[in-house]
Amino acid sequence: MEECGLKALLHAFRWAILCDVNAEIAVKFTPAGSSQPAGSEDVSVHVTGGSVQWMTVLPGRGASREAPLPEFEAQARAPTAAVPTLRVLHVEDSEDDHALVLAHLHRGGLRVDATRVDSLTDFEAALNEPWDAIICDYHLPGFTGLEVLACLRVRGDVLPFVLVSGQIGEDTAVEAMRSGASDYLLKHNLARLAPALERAIEANEARRARLASDRELALSRQRLSELAQHLQTSVESERAAISREIHDDVGGSLTALKFDLAWIERRSADPQVRQRVQTALETVTHAIEASQRIMHNLRPAILDQGLVAALHWMTKRFERRSGVATAFRTSHEVLPPLPAGVALTAYRTAQEALTNIDKHARAGRVTVDLSLAHGVLSLEVADDGVGMSQGALAKARSFGIRGLHERAGTVGGWLELSSSAAAGTTLLLSVPLDGPAADSGQAGASPSATSTDPAAWG
Ligand SMILES: Nc1ncnc2c1ncn2[C@@H]1O[C@H](COP(=O)(O)OP(=O)(O)OP(=O)(O)O)[C@@H](O)[C@H]1O
Ligand SMILES: [Mg+2]
Repeated sequence: MEECGLKALLHAFRWAILCDVNAEIAVKFTPAGSSQPAGSEDVSVHVTGGSVQWMTVLPGRGASREAPLPEFEAQARAPTAAVPTLRVLHVEDSEDDHALVLAHLHRGGLRVDATRVDSLTDFEAALNEPWDAIICDYHLPGFTGLEVLACLRVRGDVLPFVLVSGQIGEDTAVEAMRSGASDYLLKHNLARLAPALERAIEANEARRARLASDRELALSRQRLSELAQHLQTSVESERAAISREIHDDVGGSLTALKFDLAWIERRSADPQVRQRVQTALETVTHAIEASQRIMHNLRPAILDQGLVAALHWMTKRFERRSGVATAFRTSHEVLPPLPAGVALTAYRTAQEALTNIDKHARAGRVTVDLSLAHGVLSLEVADDGVGMSQGALAKARSFGIRGLHERAGTVGGWLELSSSAAAGTTLLLSVPLDGPAADSGQAGASPSATSTDPAAWG
């Protein structure tokens, strides 16, 4: 059968199936180049109840031959009233192929309200309306199905997307699937279009639900992290306030008491009283030292001399107390002014890392490296100990390292950990310093005496 005859026949099929009526269609055609007059060969299509039953070809006058239609043999699944209407956006430049796709969807039992677009502009405009699915040709005038997919991705729309093409190579199909297509079909084999579309819609619903729950989870993680960071800042504020109270009230009173006791001691001739006063003076001195220690733990006053001096002091004290050889190295003896809160964050990180080494590492050697390069302040604390056991970071009652992560976040930095039984544990804090620098001229310079915001320390 010549091409024009086939086309005519195809039109008839489409029309018949789309109309879903009992129909008998006679299509006449004349084979190209044939000397026979038009009408010498007839094709009639018998459609009953939406199903194409027979094609009858009448070659020549009076003769008759009947043959079943392989592609349309299957009985149509008539859509029932319960089937919801699907809103389908069809990106297709051929009206005939559009009709063919609709016919297949219809025969697959789907109720479809479809709109055809054939340009990217119309496609983008159509996306402002709600769609249940997109069916897209691959080769389109001036663009391809991949560009349609890219357009969807840029908008962040998540829709079932079935690619339908006359010809599509394996590589292109793989690329399309990678770019978010739900399925792809060849135009000459559309029998599985309806089930493919239904599956794509189902999968897309599951994907949407997963994305929604991922978004929810990310949001709740972000809220939790914000809360933890807020708590870190609040804790430092509270510490600063308590430290100031101890300094002003307790420290001031103890110092006054010490002067009074010394005055009594000088004035008293009674050896028993003098003895008693001596004991009281020792107790007061002890109380003053204790309050200074508590103040230091609450708010490291050593930071007033700068981060480098504070870390120097901390590592020396750690070495003395733990007996573990500890080296401190720094790229700068004097650091440029640091943004608010950075020095305190570095100080607390080193403090927790050294406490952990003391508690868990059984190390023989520790190095603390402070460096400033390419605008990033890095603090690395490394030990040669036993390394972290598996699941160490998941311990329910361990908050030190978790707290350091949150603390790093408060100054726009991050924390990295590496650990092995062979090499020990290394903790690295990195803080980009591109934020506004502290207004004090010295790194780790003291906040004003009345400052309650720990972020201002250093
Ligand atoms: N330097 C280290 N060497 C070996 N194991 C370590 C080291 N640092 C941490 N760990 C392991 O990681 C776990 C978690 O440390 P993290 O500091 O978070 O909590 P913690 O020290 O147990 O308790 P805390 O909440 O008091 O800090 C530790 O319990 C320990 O098992
Ligand atoms: Mg700890």
